[in-house]
Amino acid sequence: MNNQTPIFSELCRYRGEDHLRLHMPGHAGGRGINEVLQSIAAIDVTEVAGMDDYHLPQGIIAESQRLLARAVGAGESFYLVNGASSGIHALFMSMAADGEQILLPRSCHRSFFGGMVLSGMMPVYIPSQIDDELGLELAIKVSEVEKCLAQNPDVKAVFITSPSYFGTCSDIESMAAIAGQYNKYVLVDEAHGGHFPFHNDYPAPALAQGAMAAVNGLHKTWPVLNQGACLHLSPGFPEHDRLRQSISLLTTTSPSYPLLASIELARMYMEQEGSHQLEQAKQWSGEYKEKINKIKGLRCYGEELNERIDIAGVDPLKMVVAMPGLQLSGYQMSKILRKQYNIQTEMENENVILAMFSPLHEKADWERFYQALQEIAAGYAGSKRNSLRIEAPPVAEVVLSPREAWQSAKKQVKLADSINLISGEMIAVYPPGIPCLLPGECISAEVMDYLYYVIDSGARIQGPEKPNLNYIQVID
Ligand SMILES: Cc1ncc(COP(=O)(O)O)c(C=O)c1O
Repeated sequence: MNNQTPIFSELCRYRGEDHLRLHMPGHAGGRGINEVLQSIAAIDVTEVAGMDDYHLPQGIIAESQRLLARAVGAGESFYLVNGASSGIHALFMSMAADGEQILLPRSCHRSFFGGMVLSGMMPVYIPSQIDDELGLELAIKVSEVEKCLAQNPDVKAVFITSPSYFGTCSDIESMAAIAGQYNKYVLVDEAHGGHFPFHNDYPAPALAQGAMAAVNGLHKTWPVLNQGACLHLSPGFPEHDRLRQSISLLTTTSPSYPLLASIELARMYMEQEGSHQLEQAKQWSGEYKEKINKIKGLRCYGEELNERIDIAGVDPLKMVVAMPGLQLSGYQMSKILRKQYNIQTEMENENVILAMFSPLHEKADWERFYQALQEIAAGYAGSKRNSLRIEAPPVAEVVLSPREAWQSAKKQVKLADSINLISGEMIAVYPPGIPCLLPGECISAEVMDYLYYVIDSGARIQGPEKPNLNYIQVID
C-alpha cells in the first residue's frame, strides 16, 4: 500500500523547522489568523525551497501527481486548485482554434460554456433524452452521438458528462469505439466519479473505458478540501503540451499547498481504505434503498436504473429520492430535513431530493437519513401530489459562438418583443436542468412557445436576470 505523501511530508518538515517566515503569505505562518484556521495556516506556504513549482513541477508536486496517476491508472495526472471547472476550461483551451466545433450534451455543466467563451469553440449539441419517470437526463444516448458524428464530421472531439449529477453513467466505451471510427476522441467530465477506480463493483472509470481525458472534482467524492480536483490523461492524449500550458494559464501562481496536500492525503486514503469503505457504502446503499422503498409514498432509485436504455452504471453513493405519494415537493422535503432533522442534502427540485453519501459516511448516518425520511413520510401521507414533468426544450439555433455572445453588448427587451432576436443570457428550467437558451442562440417562435409553456408550468427558471422572465437580455 502506498503511503508516500511528498507534499504533505515536506510541509510538515517546514512547519517543524520553525523558520522566521519572511515570505508570502502575509500571515507568516498563522499570525492574525483565527484559531479555527491556525493549523491550516501553519502549512499555507509559497514556493520556497523544497516546495516545487506548480507551473513547472520537478519535485514534490511532480512526484505527488505521478502517485495520483499510478493510483488511478492514468498516463498522467494534473492537480487542479480551482475545481473541476478549471480542468474543463483547460481541456477546451487545449483544443482551441476559433470556430472549431465540439460535440457536447446540452445538459452539460456551465463550466462547458465558460470553456467555449475562453476557447472560441463552437458547440454542436447532442439531443437530450429525458427519463420519463424522473424528468431528468440520466445518460447520453450512444446512437445520438453516432448520428451527430456522422452529421458533423468536422467536430474536434466529443466531450460528455458521466456520471450525471444523479450518479447515472453513460456508455463511454461504446462512444469511444464509435468516435475512434471517425478519428475523434472522447473527453469526460467525470466530476462526480473520482472514486470509481477504487472498487470494481462501481461504474468503470472513464479512462478505463477509452476516454482520452477525464476531469474529477475530487472534493465531491473524496475526503478533499473544497476546490481540490484533478485532470487525468490517457497516454495518447494528442494535445498534451497545449493542455499543460492551458492549465498553467488558467491557474493562480499561488496555488494553495493545504489544498494540494489534502488531495495527496486523500489519494493515500483511497489507496489504503477506499476499496473497503466503498464496499461498505455499496452494501449500505443497497440496504437503505430497499428500506426507503418500503416507506409508503417514497421511491428511491438505484441499480434498476441500469436496465434503462443507455445507462451503463449507477453510483451507489447517490441517493435520489422521489416522494410521489406524499403531499410534499422535493423543496419542502429538503427544508424539513434541514430544519427539523439537521440533515442538509445536496440538491432538491420539485420532484426529488439528492442525498450524496461519501465513502466516509458511517452506517449510523445512513440510518439517520432513513429514520428522518420515515418520520416525514408518516407526517405527510395523504393524497398524492402531481409531480412536475417538463418536456425537453427544442433545440435552439446557435447564431453566435459563446465567445462572440459573451463579447457582445446586450440590452433588456420584453419577452414578448424578443422573437427572432438573439439571446444574451442562459435560461434553464429545473427539472430537467437542460438550458433552453444560451447566449448567442436564436429566440425562435418554437423557443418562445416553450418559454411560455415553462412559465405557465410554475417550474423554477434559472439564469435570467429577471427571474419572472417578463424581460429577457438579448444581443444588442
Ligand atoms: C457535472 C459537473 N461538472 C463540473 C462541475 C464543476 O465542478 P467544480 O465545482 O469542482 O468546479 C460540477 C459542479 O457541481 C458538476 O456537477
